[in-house]
Amino acid sequence: MIVLGIESSCDETGVALVQTQGDAVPTLLAQALHSQIDMHQAYGGVVPELASRDHIRRVLPLARQVLADAQTALEAIDVVAYTRGPGLAGALLVGAGFACALAAALGKPALGVHHLEGHLLSPFLSADPPRFPFIALLVSGGHTQLMRVDDVARYTLLGETIDDAAGEAFDKTAKMMGLPYPGGPGLARLAEFGDASAFDLPRPLLHSGNLDFSFSGLKTAVMTQLRKCGSNVCEQDKANLAAATQAAIVDVLVHKSLAALRASGLLRLVVAGGVGANRHLRERLNAQCAKIGAQLHYPELALCTDNGAMIALAAAMRLQRGRAEINRDYAFDVLPRWPLASIS
Ligand code: KG4
Ligand code: ZN
Repeated sequence: MIVLGIESSCDETGVALVQTQGDAVPTLLAQALHSQIDMHQAYGGVVPELASRDHIRRVLPLARQVLADAQTALEAIDVVAYTRGPGLAGALLVGAGFACALAAALGKPALGVHHLEGHLLSPFLSADPPRFPFIALLVSGGHTQLMRVDDVARYTLLGETIDDAAGEAFDKTAKMMGLPYPGGPGLARLAEFGDASAFDLPRPLLHSGNLDFSFSGLKTAVMTQLRKCGSNVCEQDKANLAAATQAAIVDVLVHKSLAALRASGLLRLVVAGGVGANRHLRERLNAQCAKIGAQLHYPELALCTDNGAMIALAAAMRLQRGRAEINRDYAFDVLPRWPLASIS
């Protein structure tokens, strides 16, 4: 079976083709991505209306490119999957509309996919895919969650952020330091030149006894430190503050992930979402998991941030298990707010 996946929930248009053979983990045939980061950078963040308009421009050429790269005819597509939510309503509608129109024209089913389920399952496309059950740390621009994953569609929420997401904490503090959007990768680069011990920043909820996160206090603490430095803050101070901010975020993520492993008795951790690309986070998790003999799985670096492959994959894995809610009448909706724990 061949599944076409369309991702358009935020500022990346992603299209991909995956193939299933029996019960085996699906394989990626081709994928293409257009990032809108350059376009939104001038505004310091994503402008939803511009995002929707750009998805409209990009989605068809990307789909053509993917079919050509995979040397696959349009008629060979068995299912068209799209991100149904969560995300920006207008942006989601572009992908859903395109997917349902294409599926209707082909007489094939359409299938709405949960964006975070895509992130969660994306390590299955890596060279070393995980086995169920596992603990998942989902760290994206909009979400920070720890989940227990027993199988596809069997997710238990263990803890989540009560305010800002980890990616948001990276982005907002980076913006304060004058770095361009999205700040996460830029802050991580700047942190390479800094000394994290130069600033003492809080680790919110580190010892809360539960698996919830909070990052908004960190933002305020960074602002306070920047004010103390004054208007002519030097480059070394900025690098030190970037390193200290990254260390604070990573400390909390590592501490809670390890606590989730301990509480569940599981020895397998999957890290997904854009912040999963962070090198410092990976190094710390690698070291801590090695200490307790836990296996650690990441998506390929290119599949950490939003992409179409994870959407096609999640659809394919649901179809393999008979857990897909097929949309056969092509009347579609999108769900901008959609808790992952609510789907089964
Ligand atoms: O998963 P994603 O692509 O989009 C959402 O679904 O939100 O995640 C984007 C987030 C942004 O906040 C971005 O700054 C962050 O991931 N990010 C990073 C790194 N690469 C991306 N944060 C820290 N270090 C990185 N290397
Ligand atoms: Zn995402």
